[in-house]
Amino acid sequence: MNILLTGGLGYIGSHVTVVLAEAGHHVIILDNLHNCKIEVLDRLAKILGNSPAFIQGDVRNQLLVESVLKDQKIDAVMHFAGLKAVGESVQKPLMYYENNVGGTISLLQAMKSCQVKKIVFSSSATVYGIPQYLPLDEKHPTNPESPYGQTKLQIEAILQDLARSDQSWKIIALRYFNPVGAHESGLIGEEPNGIPNNLMPYISQVASGLLPKLKIFGNDYETPDGTGVRDYIHVMDLAEGHVCALNYLYNNESEFSIMNLGTGAGYSVLELVKLYQKVSSRKITYEIAAKRAGDIAACYANADKAAVHMVWKAKRSLEKMCEDSWRWQSRG
Ligand code: NAD
Ligand code: UFG
Repeated sequence: MNILLTGGLGYIGSHVTVVLAEAGHHVIILDNLHNCKIEVLDRLAKILGNSPAFIQGDVRNQLLVESVLKDQKIDAVMHFAGLKAVGESVQKPLMYYENNVGGTISLLQAMKSCQVKKIVFSSSATVYGIPQYLPLDEKHPTNPESPYGQTKLQIEAILQDLARSDQSWKIIALRYFNPVGAHESGLIGEEPNGIPNNLMPYISQVASGLLPKLKIFGNDYETPDGTGVRDYIHVMDLAEGHVCALNYLYNNESEFSIMNLGTGAGYSVLELVKLYQKVSSRKITYEIAAKRAGDIAACYANADKAAVHMVWKAKRSLEKMCEDSWRWQSRG
């Protein structure tokens, strides 16, 4: 099938490109290069043996998207393009609504006019807000705390309304938990701009000596060791979930579905630090610092729905996530 990946040169999209291409699909990437490097295309070519089709452009350019959908005879779209920094979304909410919500509406309008009605959307566990119970299943109430999270929830609502209005749409929103790690070639991975906000890239930069020490945000949470607990999922498991989602869209009657993509297991900051030290053989210096505003004690998925309906389950261990992250971080 011909699959359009918006934001396909980014962290998650580049890994999904590999898995889709290896499953025999023809991948066409549309990316405006806002948060990625064009070199990713060469690295994808090294992994795959040839370069995926690439169009530099913005999802908000409806005419461009329409021409790509028609010229490339697109069968389905995977929509990764968006802004994702929680803190920045608090500072610049309009930019987030404009790019994420506005970009999705423009994309859907282009899809509708070209009769391309299958889409997999990158949503986030952040839509749940503060957990009322754990593990989080898809029925848990939603109450995102940041403008970023609000954009994801609003897009889900738009997708649901669209599916209700016309049953020929097949739509799935995947709520990712905490994607980490890298492709095991060490050729592609997460490349945060500036100082990382997220734990795993921060730890990997401390391990490699780029940053002096990790600040652990709080050690008196109600968790086994007092540090925050999250559901880290290997980005390749996440990528494989997208192939399952595509199969689900083609083989299921449901017009709109929401699925958690997580492992179902939670690990603490200290557990991750210890494991990273082991796999990298580097000391991770850390200090306990104040809690980060907006952080929650624990967040992990009930991933049963994806297991039952999409026949998908995360397979890779936390140790493998650390190993692959370290291979990517310590590349030449
Ligand atoms: P990323 O920033 O690495 O990739 C997003 C890509 O989209 C970038 O390459 C960027 O250049 C591109 N892009 C942004 N706006 C665009 C636009 N208007 N037109 C065309 N291209 C545009 O992010 P990622 O980690 O790969 O995340 C992919 C998606 O998954 C995002 O929608 C994100 O919100 C969502 N998500 C990510 C995480 C995570 O922790 N990484 C968790 C939950 C959900
Ligand atoms: N942490 C530290 N020090 C750091 C960075 C993080 O102690 O320097 C801690 C946090 O307090 C938290 C854990 O590490 O307990 C994980 O933090 P991350 O920033 O890596 O991840 P979050 O769970 O806070 O948020 C991430 C993404 C969100 C997304 C959410 C759920 O940033 O966009 O996962 O998918 F919504």
